[in-house]
Amino acid sequence: MNENEKNKKRADNENEETLTNRQGHPVTNNQNMRTVGNRGPTTLENYDFLEKISHFDRERIPERVVHARGAGAHGYFTATGKAGDEPVSTYTRAKLFQEEGKQTPLFVRFSSVIHGGTSPETLRDPRGFAVKFYTEDGNWDLVGNNLKIFFIRDAIKFPDLIHAFKPDPVTNIQDGKRIFDFCSSSPETFHMITFLFSPWGIPANYRMMQGSGVNTYKWVNEEGKAVLVKYHWEPKQGIKNLTQDEADKIQATNFNHATQDLYEAIEKGDFPEWDLFVQIMSDDDHPELDFDPLDDTKLWPNDTFPWKHVGTMTLNKNPEDYFTEVEQVAFGTGVLVDGLDFSDDKMLQGRTFSYSDTQRYRVGPNYLQLPINAPNKRVATNQRGGQMQYKVDLGEKQNPHINYEPSTIDGLKEAKPTAKEYTPFIEGHLVRESIDRPSNTKQAGETFRNFEEWEREELIANLVSALGPADKRIQEKMIALAEEADQEYGRRLRDGLANAPKGETEHSKPISSKEGNDAPEEAVEKG
Ligand code: HEM
Repeated sequence: MNENEKNKKRADNENEETLTNRQGHPVTNNQNMRTVGNRGPTTLENYDFLEKISHFDRERIPERVVHARGAGAHGYFTATGKAGDEPVSTYTRAKLFQEEGKQTPLFVRFSSVIHGGTSPETLRDPRGFAVKFYTEDGNWDLVGNNLKIFFIRDAIKFPDLIHAFKPDPVTNIQDGKRIFDFCSSSPETFHMITFLFSPWGIPANYRMMQGSGVNTYKWVNEEGKAVLVKYHWEPKQGIKNLTQDEADKIQATNFNHATQDLYEAIEKGDFPEWDLFVQIMSDDDHPELDFDPLDDTKLWPNDTFPWKHVGTMTLNKNPEDYFTEVEQVAFGTGVLVDGLDFSDDKMLQGRTFSYSDTQRYRVGPNYLQLPINAPNKRVATNQRGGQMQYKVDLGEKQNPHINYEPSTIDGLKEAKPTAKEYTPFIEGHLVRESIDRPSNTKQAGETFRNFEEWEREELIANLVSALGPADKRIQEKMIALAEEADQEYGRRLRDGLANAPKGETEHSKPISSKEGNDAPEEAVEKG
């Protein structure tokens, strides 16, 4: 029986407005528990009450361990059919990119990273930018951030990085001392720190921020030949970042401003759009570069690796229910379609285990059966059981007794590859070593010099404020990294710290608030 037919069936005392419980029983009294006399005690067999209160007791699922605060929207992707001037098929056979004008439905979730599910959206933090494409070949997730680089380049360091940025386990307060203790001892973080403490660390809202896949992926064409790619989203609304003062003012009156901005824009038909660009490199080590193309702490220079426009994303529909869609959506870097592949980027490989692992815990082992996560196409598997399985992924001709493969009695069969498989040759010693070209501070210096002067002023003021309460030893290590990046950067940080008002030494303030900031009043917009 389909949902519509089921909904037409009614009990004698039920019409289209009647409240029922989840067993379909009409509820005759939703104001009073069943009690012995009207002053109690209550009885235990009161099913309506037990169902209602015990469901309420379980309304929350575990928050995401990172990126807990988020907002989502539905939309579609429109392909250009090209990568710059060339047909996109030169590089990838992924179907969603092939024809000009081809549309693919998608769901996006934007987020902040460190604090909890209702934390202010004005905090200095990277912003998540995760997109689920419901393609004809199944789902593709592009799980990125607003900034184009990351703090670390080896996945084994991720839990330490996050612990350092999360609140202190004793005081439950975020502490700059702990953050810089970790970062000053992990010099690869310095480029990301330079972006994070500049105005780029507080995007004005979700509509006016960039996005990036950050990690290096591969594209594979019809001949099974691969190239390295990086993905970048560019907002057609322009880019707008906030000074710390501006963020503080917004936060004083509204800690949901980014969710509200996105929701209201879509409700009034002002649909936000982002162009998707790729940067492409041949699939090798690139010894001519002073950085490793698989190192996610680095930008790929635009002049050598130009941005190629491959499509546009439009967001045109708000979720119908926050929990069903935005809370339960599950993105993962392992979710690729034919024509898209992984690179050996060590962060990407670590991430690819982590996402589906956490989602089996956070949402449950059958999380992929939920409508928001299920692909927009046929699914037929031999997976059975597990908490909250509510249907069987039965193939059209599959014998329901045959949940294994191979079988000669109407079981599911393997598909044939549609194109030449990509089969890279890999050999080497198994080691635990960092990469040969760490180049930890060079690009941080370039980024510092590329900032506008007001951005440099904000960066120094924000770093001084956050580093002020840290030990002298940690301050000196951070100054040394800044000097290595750029002499002026180091000098301004040293002077700023020397002239900072003395005071708090026990616990630093959260990185989202600061004193003595003389940055410009207005937010600066970049087109
Ligand atoms: C969320 C792990 C690095 C972007 C998450 C979650 C985990 C995780 C466990 C929660 C997922 C969930 O509960 O559904 C890791 C690990 C990393 C890493 C182990 C490094 C080894 C990164 C990087 C980026 C990123 C480099 C940016 C490119 C995101 C985003 C989300 C997320 C956008 C939120 C997805 C959503 O909206 O549901 N990450 N992450 N992560 N991560 Fe990472």
